[in-house]
Amino acid sequence: MLVCFWSPKGGSGTSVIAAAAALVLARETDARIVDLSGDQPAVLGLAHDPVPGLLDWMRAGPGAPADAFDHLTVDVAPRLALLPAGDAHGQPAAPEAGAALAVALDADPRPAACDLGRLDDPALLAFAEVAGTGVVVVRGCYLGLRRAVRHPAITEAIGAILIDEHGRSLGKPDVEDVLGLPVLATIAARTSIARAVDAGVLPTRLPDSLGRPLHRALLAVGCFGDEQAA
Ligand SMILES: Nc1ncnc2c1ncn2[C@@H]1O[C@H](COP(=O)(O)OP(=O)(O)OP(=O)(O)O)[C@@H](O)[C@H]1O
Ligand SMILES: [Mg+2]
Repeated sequence: MLVCFWSPKGGSGTSVIAAAAALVLARETDARIVDLSGDQPAVLGLAHDPVPGLLDWMRAGPGAPADAFDHLTVDVAPRLALLPAGDAHGQPAAPEAGAALAVALDADPRPAACDLGRLDDPALLAFAEVAGTGVVVVRGCYLGLRRAVRHPAITEAIGAILIDEHGRSLGKPDVEDVLGLPVLATIAARTSIARAVDAGVLPTRLPDSLGRPLHRALLAVGCFGDEQAA
């Protein structure tokens, strides 16, 4: 299962949520973090950006071999493998390559959290469409919500994650009402979360304020299999 996190607005917290979701999955089972934005090495505290990566695989065309993933993969935490983005500044890939990547990754039984960034590229839109399990990350921000409802991938989304900043007037009911989607988790914007990211210690010290609500959200969307959801 591929859970695709994206946001219509930069800086919403998508990369942090995708990394935290993958770390929560890895507490229970072998899991993957699929980076299609290029932010994951930094969010996970790696000293370098691994290359090549999935963006290079997509540029090689839909016929690129699926076993190439083994050579791209980097272990980042116990039971968690990173599939890095690679060169984020090259030519955009074709939509067919995005669709082929989603099919190839979905053939692996390990659950994966995917960081799709702003999802403003045709290959990533095709990836999200094939993966089917989109989760939009938003803040209680009118401009962000307005962009989200107009985004082509909103029709594929199954829910939202709300990053709750103190002082915002739009809360969970407003977000659900505007997006027409359930808010799967509300995550408070906390300095402890920002500090853990800045210090590169998210994999070893995942704050409970991130881990607990995300565990419930992943359970709700069926990431842990039917057994645990029952
Ligand atoms: N729940 C949170 N509480 C506090 N700070 C957070 C939280 N989530 C993310 N941040 C911080 O907000 C900033 C943006 O987060 P992040 O990089 O995950 O956003 P993004 O949507 O991936 O941005 P971009 O569009 O640049 O890829 C980072 O400095 C991160 O540490
Ligand atoms: Mg990001």
